[in-house]
Amino acid sequence: MNMSDLNTTLNRLYDTAVPDRNDIVSLLSISDADELKQLFTFADHVRKQHVGDGVLLRGIVEFSNFCGNNCAYCGLKKDNTTINRYRLSVDEILQSIGQIYSSSIRTVVLQSGEEHSIDAEWMAKLLKKIKSRFDIAVTLSVGERSYEDYELWRKAGADRYLLKIETTDKQLYNSLHPDMSFEKRIDCLRTIKQLGYQSGTGCIVGLKGQTIETLANDIMFFAAEQFDMLGIGPFIPHQDTPLKDDDPGELDMILKTLAVTRIVTKDTHMPATTAIGSLNSGDERLKALQCGANVMMPNYTPQPYKKDYEIYPGKRCIDEPSGACANCMEQMAQSIGRYIDYSRGDSLKTSSATTIQ
Ligand code: 5AD
Repeated sequence: MNMSDLNTTLNRLYDTAVPDRNDIVSLLSISDADELKQLFTFADHVRKQHVGDGVLLRGIVEFSNFCGNNCAYCGLKKDNTTINRYRLSVDEILQSIGQIYSSSIRTVVLQSGEEHSIDAEWMAKLLKKIKSRFDIAVTLSVGERSYEDYELWRKAGADRYLLKIETTDKQLYNSLHPDMSFEKRIDCLRTIKQLGYQSGTGCIVGLKGQTIETLANDIMFFAAEQFDMLGIGPFIPHQDTPLKDDDPGELDMILKTLAVTRIVTKDTHMPATTAIGSLNSGDERLKALQCGANVMMPNYTPQPYKKDYEIYPGKRCIDEPSGACANCMEQMAQSIGRYIDYSRGDSLKTSSATTIQ
């Protein structure tokens, strides 16, 4: 593509309500360094225009690594007997949230493996406690549950829910997720939206069998469904999984996916994911922040548990005390002319599509 064609494609994609899949495919196919630069700069402008220069912080507490699923890529998979399983007590969780709150952060993400044994009432009680003690937005990321559980938790005060679709290629999805179903996942996302959660999904980039067309379909899905939040990260092979010998996701492909997603979805909150930061020894999250991302997720999981939440290997900073990240993130933002925004960072979407086809 020459530079003026590229410019035309970028503007067309930005201007149309329903993106043309061919445009997305052609942007994801870019490999020339100058063209990449043009794509990333365009996405950075869209980011600046629609969500500004603030980098939002979400303090994450990985409160349990028990999991009932066997996702082929994930180190927490049920069949991985080599890891130390833990579950934080309510007091430990509240303490971690206290630390988040004292760092002036106003969102907590409570994440765990998909633990079928998490009692719905236990979670509802925890949510009520959090909401009565702290003026903080709560995001849940605990997987697929029944309509009743999602409703109970929403009523108990949960504001947001993250459930990644991982890939919209149904066949690939089913091959990676034994005993799970693509339809069920979509159903859960539909319920989450219906119940008025600010909803987030996302995909893994670099899975074997995934093509540029697959990724373009993921982006079409994101655009059609108007999610409030989108997390996009690289696949990183984990030694105790069947995908241990697969190659990791390529940085450029991740950045391209982020950039195109920013251009088509405009005001979505998108993290520079921890997985991007874990890809190389240098911290590639800075690059992500410069081609579309506007969120970072400091880790407040207390020690000694951080290392046991090993979704993928090489996670950054797992030896640091909990809460060490926030200062570091201030510096990262400043180094690229941005600043940390300590507000709750609610969704900027004015209307959200509530029906998933
Ligand atoms: N590489 C990259 N991302 C992974 N996840 C799980 N395992 C891996 C891996 N090996 C991501 C999934 C999941 C999130 C919590 O972590 O997208 O939704």
